[in-house]
Amino acid sequence: MVDRSAPRCPRSRAFHDIVAAALSRRAFMRGSAALGAGAILPAGAALAPRPSRAADTRLMFPAVAANTRDTVTVPDGFNWHVVASWGDPLWSHAPAFDPETRGTAASQALAIGDNNDGMEMFAGGGRSVLAVNNEYVNLEIMFGNRASERPESEDDVRKNMAAHGVSIFEVTGTGGRWRIAPDSPVNRRITADTPMTIAGPARGHPLLRTAADPDGTRARGTWNNCGCGRTPWGTYLACEENFNGYFSASDPGFTPDADQTRYGIGAKDWGHGWARVDSRFDVSRHPNEPNRVGYVVEIDPLNPAAAPRKRTALGRFKHENAEVELTASGHVVVYMGDDERGEFLYRFVSADTYRENGATGSLLDSGTLYAARFHDNMRGEWVALTPENTGLASQAEICIRTRQAASAVGATTMDRPEWVAANPARAEVFCCLTNNKNRGIKPNAGGDPAPVNGPNPRARNRYGQIVRWAPDGGDHAAPGFTWDLFAVAGNPTVHADAYAGSANIDAGNMFNAPDGLAFDRNGLMWIQTDGNTRNRGEFAGMGNNQMLAGDPETGEIRRFL
Ligand code: FEO
Ligand code: CA
Repeated sequence: MVDRSAPRCPRSRAFHDIVAAALSRRAFMRGSAALGAGAILPAGAALAPRPSRAADTRLMFPAVAANTRDTVTVPDGFNWHVVASWGDPLWSHAPAFDPETRGTAASQALAIGDNNDGMEMFAGGGRSVLAVNNEYVNLEIMFGNRASERPESEDDVRKNMAAHGVSIFEVTGTGGRWRIAPDSPVNRRITADTPMTIAGPARGHPLLRTAADPDGTRARGTWNNCGCGRTPWGTYLACEENFNGYFSASDPGFTPDADQTRYGIGAKDWGHGWARVDSRFDVSRHPNEPNRVGYVVEIDPLNPAAAPRKRTALGRFKHENAEVELTASGHVVVYMGDDERGEFLYRFVSADTYRENGATGSLLDSGTLYAARFHDNMRGEWVALTPENTGLASQAEICIRTRQAASAVGATTMDRPEWVAANPARAEVFCCLTNNKNRGIKPNAGGDPAPVNGPNPRARNRYGQIVRWAPDGGDHAAPGFTWDLFAVAGNPTVHADAYAGSANIDAGNMFNAPDGLAFDRNGLMWIQTDGNTRNRGEFAGMGNNQMLAGDPETGEIRRFL
């Protein structure tokens, strides 16, 4: 069956050419001297999926078939178990999870939060310590014992706030199973109420000053932490994403200004009701409060006494994750996506350099923030965001109104940049562009046009793609890069055009909405989806959300979970 409703874009010939060019340029990417040492690959490596003979592949597991069962399916020879669940206590004095009440604000503050998202494992002092984001709460589950399936009492709202943030806890492994170590000195809950420090250029800026914090230097809480990152010095980076959905306005006459509209701040929240118990979430009373969220938060996972730090130098937007690389000279490079339709990809390059055992407390506070511009000729560049070229008054303001700054320099509107991951085997970086129903249809929230373009080559993009770029000279701080598309997701059983996907997508490994992305130490790339699981129509045969492994050297992709 061929989708006859596929939009007829006036540029359809052009974008088909771009897709073809993007995919065929992979051979060029592989052979390019610009990739630097370590870029040597087997000649003639094919892009199409390879046979699963062990000798021929680095993906050493049998593919899992798509399914819609209410369980986790892994290949033969692997198994899985639950390590930690919403409501599991982190301390022995905390009450066990009560399925009847589904917990209280007090019990939730001592237990694993909801909706586990980005996570990293740390080792220190003989301990294995897991840091996990609790991105949001599943209202219909957490409050499924309420008629409205929403927080109703004040305690309900405070429970909701306590279920957000980050859970940090020691895990111990015995008998092949990992479990929480209650009462470990590293166990910690960070919630929407935890005191934290505002660091970097925006610290103290008038736009960050509020009734609760007239200096604009001390924030309270982090929420909607989506993806994450880790630094070479052993800290955890929790990334604030859809922070806007927690603010509302008590003033019926409230209308958001242009800055608030750009970040999605409106009169109504998304059902959390936080403003009912804490006026800082009432944007008609405290209009600067939303300016204090939307950052990357650096946390020392081994030191519960250390206040988290909001690193404003890394910009304010709907952060997905933070992928940290070091250049040969020791500069810290952080790649970051802004997950909203038609928003941008960013890079931070530190002013100072990292030295092992050197001071690291302010490495993420001073440097240059860039936004990416992609060109259809497979080249791109990082444009520094400065007062001169953005028209904004100061670096501090750029760190607060980052989207507006990137719009001003004509950064490329992207199909919802999710996780960024850098290949440890060579200087190349990947980003999941999850989908964008508005591509080729309408501009982003700032009015920037979003026509089909090089790395976003399909109008009304419901499947997503994974873009890859190689920094010039193998230097992550270089101004320019060469890019291609590692994979264009699609459904070859439904479509025969660009919506069928790239050559490395077939009926056996197809997926939609790539989101999570991380490399293992062998240089294999793990792709997680957060997409449409209807398993019908355009998504027929894709089953549940899934995790796949990809080989950047061959283009092979195989479903693992
Ligand atoms: Fe929280 Fe971009 O997904
Ligand atoms: Ca995500």
